[in-house]
Amino acid sequence: MKKAVPVSRRAFSSALIAAPWVLRAQPGALRARIKVDTERVIDDIDPMIYGNFIEHLGRCIEGGVFDENSPLSDANGYRKDVLEAVKKLNVTVLRWPGGNFSSNYYWKDGIGPRDKRPPRLEMAWGTVESNRFGTHEFLNYCEAVGTEPYICTNMGTGTWQDAQQWVEYVNSSQDTAMTRLRRENGRRDPWKVKYWGLGNEMDGPWQMGHKSAEDYGKFALEAAKLMKWTDPDIKLIAAGSSNYTNGIDWIGWNRVVLDFLKTHADYLSLHMYVGNTANDYGEFLTSSLTLQERIKTSEGTINAALSGQPRDRKIYIAWDEWNVWYRARGNSQRGRRILEERYNLEDALVVATFLNTFVNNAHILKMANMAQLVNVIAPIFTDDKRLFLQTIYYPLALFANNTKGKALELLVKGPTYQSRNYKDVPHLDVSAAIDNGTLVINVVNRHRDQAVETDIDLEDKQFAGAVEVSEVNAPDIKAENSFDSTTVKTVQRSVRAEKNSLRYSFPPHSYTLLKAKLT
Ligand code: AHR
Repeated sequence: MKKAVPVSRRAFSSALIAAPWVLRAQPGALRARIKVDTERVIDDIDPMIYGNFIEHLGRCIEGGVFDENSPLSDANGYRKDVLEAVKKLNVTVLRWPGGNFSSNYYWKDGIGPRDKRPPRLEMAWGTVESNRFGTHEFLNYCEAVGTEPYICTNMGTGTWQDAQQWVEYVNSSQDTAMTRLRRENGRRDPWKVKYWGLGNEMDGPWQMGHKSAEDYGKFALEAAKLMKWTDPDIKLIAAGSSNYTNGIDWIGWNRVVLDFLKTHADYLSLHMYVGNTANDYGEFLTSSLTLQERIKTSEGTINAALSGQPRDRKIYIAWDEWNVWYRARGNSQRGRRILEERYNLEDALVVATFLNTFVNNAHILKMANMAQLVNVIAPIFTDDKRLFLQTIYYPLALFANNTKGKALELLVKGPTYQSRNYKDVPHLDVSAAIDNGTLVINVVNRHRDQAVETDIDLEDKQFAGAVEVSEVNAPDIKAENSFDSTTVKTVQRSVRAEKNSLRYSFPPHSYTLLKAKLT
């Protein structure tokens, strides 16, 4: 092994002021090794793994994304400060209008002159839906953000015709009653929305119009046929299992649904929310191991459903709702100020491990949407005058802006710990990507108290010199941000690496992104 270059004090100097815990002496440091071979490619990382989601729920859309009466909004009613924060997050795909909301949403209520749109009782979250933010407002917002829209249709109380006509209204270039209506409403050219969901969490009894797997499979197949006949270029996302394990058979639902939809669905939608309900940091940090198990199981189910299909027929996973969500949860969550979860450092670390897991499964996981974007279990939090960035914003922004190109399979050797549910949990959770000669390595050190001193060895390349370091950390795992203080954030510095080796000490309870040019 080549001699490692020690991390210099000078390189850390800027961080010393902002992050004093970085250089804290760690008695009996733990050691690890990460071996990188840039030819060991898992697959291309689909940029859509950095997607997000807005639902007509609480203050996510009204009071978050869209606030017609706010002096902070533009002429369209979009909050300008929120739009800026969303752009910096590099949201690659945006799911709308729900969520549970979508299962009783009539899209025709949300088009035409705003003042003439009908207010409707909203039963998923117990409010009245004004319908002032509809199809045009959503799709124009996506254009303003520069993100790919993804529309989830109503497979609960909706009909096949509703779903089909929505595709026609949005995507068709033919001269029809639907496209004339679109033009009358101010949009001449079709938006050509590619991603369409076949309902949301249809396996859940809480869902309006909940169905058995067989009933959903049959219903969604007929909708899928009409939607694809309207626009053969669209991609369809089937409602897979939501994260509900008590009483509903996780694996059984997906298998049955895919049997119906294997010829028409392009993605299987899966959901997972996690939380530190037991206040057990070590256990909470294993959430991504459960995610990994579910990806593997679902991949097997997809492969089983596809056997006998032409080889080029593919179904990928769209993990289109995921996040930490446990505090603002339960039956009391009805009305306007709901699901307003406040996040801390340990939540941000869990988010980083989820993103590592998505990258490490780049071959099958081709879309993921953090739920949700603003105020509702969200990285961006507003009041009527300002916003702040929650802890979970930082890892998401770092991944979305840097971890691109090809995902790499790594060899990671290092210390482990035992949690209540898992033996041998690695202290270091790692992913890597190579993009045009730039290597990115993402490392979460799960250890609560100790740094892990790590040798990063390149098998087939050399470091070109400087390594950019971005670290998300804070003195306390329970540290939160607020309107008045940003305790958890990204701190940047640079270290030098020579030849093919870098020794780096990952501080306790941290997420670090290393970025280096290779030669
Ligand atoms: O994201 C909040 C809710 O969680 C969504 O509406 C639903 O799909 C899920 O249960």
